[in-house]
Amino acid sequence: MTKVSRTYWLVLLLACGIFAVDVFVLPDVTPELKSSASEFFNNECKGCHRWARKFAAPPMRDNVQHYASDPAAMVEYLKHPTPQHPDEWPAMEITPLTEEQAKMMTAWLLYILKNPDDPGRPK
Ligand code: HEC
Repeated sequence: MTKVSRTYWLVLLLACGIFAVDVFVLPDVTPELKSSASEFFNNECKGCHRWARKFAAPPMRDNVQHYASDPAAMVEYLKHPTPQHPDEWPAMEITPLTEEQAKMMTAWLLYILKNPDDPGRPK
């Protein structure tokens, strides 16, 4: 093995290691996830959010639409809610979600956005 190819492999290995940490994966939307997420929504989100209209918070459909191209940012937001529209809305005062809860809710809400006729869609 030449010196160049050894360096090459070392760099490649390091790069794989770095990317492995960064991979962002949402869980599959199984029937079990749907029922857990729906229950979580009813307990933790429904007090303020409705699906398609303003309530004590912006419509959830619009929120999810906004994050549709960047689900990782939605997970981050749910773990650390920071003021987003200070002119229009108060900050979201909730117990921050854990990584697992945030991923579950993001996966489910994106699924509902794509499947609005799902019987489990929030009202
Ligand atoms: C106490 C009321 C309240 C509860 C409960 C609540 N929210 Fe919110 N939510 C808000 C308000 C108010 C905003 C607008 C915040 C802002 O613009 O800074 C918001 C905004 C959002 C946004 C959009 C943020 C953005 O970038 O515009 C998402 C996504 C969201 N909520 C998800 C959830 C989820 C999921 C739950 C349940 C786990 C939840 N919310 C529970 C009040 C609430």
